[in-house]
Amino acid sequence: MADEEKFESLAARFRLDGKVALVTGGSRGIGRAIALGLAEAGADIVLTSRKLPDLETVAAEIQALGRQALPVAANVRHLEEHEGIVKAAIDRFGHIDILVNNAGTSIAYGSVFDVDEKAWDITMGLNLKAIFFLTQRVTARMREQGKGGSVVNISSDSGFRPYLGMSVYAISKCAVQHLTAVFAQELGQYNIRCNCIAPSVTRTRLSEALWKDEGNLRRKEMNTTLGRIAEPIEMAGAALYLASDASSYMTGQTLLVDGGEYSMIQDAIKTVPYLTK
Ligand SMILES: NC(=O)c1ccc[n+]([C@@H]2O[C@H](COP(=O)([O-])OP(=O)(O)OC[C@H]3O[C@@H](n4cnc5c(N)ncnc54)[C@H](OP(=O)(O)O)[C@@H]3O)[C@@H](O)[C@H]2O)c1
Repeated sequence: MADEEKFESLAARFRLDGKVALVTGGSRGIGRAIALGLAEAGADIVLTSRKLPDLETVAAEIQALGRQALPVAANVRHLEEHEGIVKAAIDRFGHIDILVNNAGTSIAYGSVFDVDEKAWDITMGLNLKAIFFLTQRVTARMREQGKGGSVVNISSDSGFRPYLGMSVYAISKCAVQHLTAVFAQELGQYNIRCNCIAPSVTRTRLSEALWKDEGNLRRKEMNTTLGRIAEPIEMAGAALYLASDASSYMTGQTLLVDGGEYSMIQDAIKTVPYLTK
């Protein structure tokens, strides 16, 4: 058979018709963009965050795309609320095929000497512990369903190299990347894939301190090859790739989506004279 005849539609591999995706932190920012993107590709969406009215607004946007949306108000840092989220999803749709662990927080700006136990616990509780236990619960369900699945975690470029002043956040995001590999290793046998996206500064409420001030924005822009910070939809493309069969042979990996910032830093390091001697 000629190669052209064997070619299967690649566009079809990006489709999510008949799938159900659970997106945490789906009420705004990167989570909203991912939820809308996955819905546009055909998935029905379960959205969760703490404020129901915000979720209902996004649910209406999803419905306008012709897909079903279920808003579930919950604090994913409270592990006892996980059961209710999954139950609501199963009661409504009967299955979960995609989990996007997007909800995250960055509260502890400053020196390591300023970090107290409360800031550590809140950051690690949401950015790491909640992801571990929600993934454990949802992938147990995927394993029972017997049809594979895809988990997409949202880390940060600070998981590769810390930003000064964002210590606990960077530690939590680095750990999410390792968590991704750990789940991937164990769940591959069930065709449940687990991958991660590491965005750099993206125009959302969480990162306002890094871009609202004109000076900070210029500094960030100068650090990227593309000369600008990211928009939320630019993370949704990576999420659709990882959630869908387009990435069917990829698991345990973290995609750095940073406008070339990392490569700029490598270049800068190479050109520092005392490092190149
Ligand atoms: N923006 C960036 O520059 C950037 C860069 C790298 C990585 N990231 C990562 O991308 C992810 C999304 O961030 P974003 O920038 O889109 O932030 P965002 O605009 O602040 O949105 C955060 C979302 O998470 C929800 N959320 C927060 N705490 C929650 C909790 N305890 N339980 C349930 N939901 C909760 C928020 O809704 P409620 O407040 O109503 O609960 C909201 O829907 C995070 O993991 C973040 O670390 C962002």
